[in-house]
Amino acid sequence: MDKKVLVIYYTQSGQMGEIIDSFTQPIIDEGFSVEKVVIKMVDNYPFPWTGSSFFNVMPDCVLSVPAQIQPFTLKETKYDLIILGYQPWFLSPSIPSNSLLNHPDFLKVLKGTPVVTISAARNMWLNAFERVRKSLQDAGAKLVGNIALVDRNPNPISFVTIFYWMLTGKKERYLNIFPKPGIDEQEILDTAKFGRAIAFRITMEYWESLQYELMNLEAVHIKYPLMFIEGKAKIIFAVWAKFIAKRKKKEPWIAAFKYYLFIALFIGAPILLILDMIFIRPFFGDRIEARKNYYLQLN
Ligand SMILES: Cc1cc2nc3c(=O)[nH]c(=O)nc-3n(C[C@H](O)[C@H](O)[C@H](O)COP(=O)(O)O)c2cc1C
Repeated sequence: MDKKVLVIYYTQSGQMGEIIDSFTQPIIDEGFSVEKVVIKMVDNYPFPWTGSSFFNVMPDCVLSVPAQIQPFTLKETKYDLIILGYQPWFLSPSIPSNSLLNHPDFLKVLKGTPVVTISAARNMWLNAFERVRKSLQDAGAKLVGNIALVDRNPNPISFVTIFYWMLTGKKERYLNIFPKPGIDEQEILDTAKFGRAIAFRITMEYWESLQYELMNLEAVHIKYPLMFIEGKAKIIFAVWAKFIAKRKKKEPWIAAFKYYLFIALFIGAPILLILDMIFIRPFFGDRIEARKNYYLQLN
């Protein structure tokens, strides 16, 4: 079974590494050659973050400004499958993931190759996925499957716990009251089921219906309120990012964005959701369903 699989990803906390290990184990067990490459940045992002370093990356994330990746080697010039692990930052592919998607060595192996993407987010991954999908299309890759893991706790709760995690580096229960942040441990272990579905198809090179199989295995699920909030937030983030990028003195504006984000999430979003529930959602069911399918499927 001389099939070659490249698995490439970035991670700060190690969460994506754990996911990749469970997810790819069935592929390794089938005897395929699995090459894992972990991306490192020349100027590494701090982990844990400080409040200001966290928000400082927002404009570059949203405006897709790539940064330098440390040199990495790929053993092959052609793979039978590429698995790309990434995480959203500010509703966009993280800067390391975006930088990888612009890296000439990676672009070379992407061309004409089937790709499965796997993301691990707090809960807003749609816009980042849309952009990763576009980058893959532009590179001539064939996206054959997508898995989007999220923190399944309610949005305001995971908003609090992710900050605790990102600002302390501890993936633990904040104050012993809040749930653990990030992807649930059992769910990480269960990603092996996606690996088994993929391993089964590698020899046959049969990718046609993979995404439907992954959808049946609950690899992707969309909550309408989150899709709604993210849809609005992505437009507003883009306005902020362009505005801040043009300022000589960025700090005060980044601080303003931070306060905006808290107010938008805890006050603006609930009001908009109520208005949407009364005036929009009842009349646009088909359009909403089409939008969901646009993100659940691959094109
Ligand atoms: C700067 C920054 C911004 C983030 N923005 C988002 C976001 O917009 N949506 C989301 O669901 N998760 C967001 N996250 C969470 C990440 O997607 C990811 O789950 C977390 O950073 C753990 O990934 P790791 O494997 O790199 O440790 C953000 C994390 C960071 C550090």
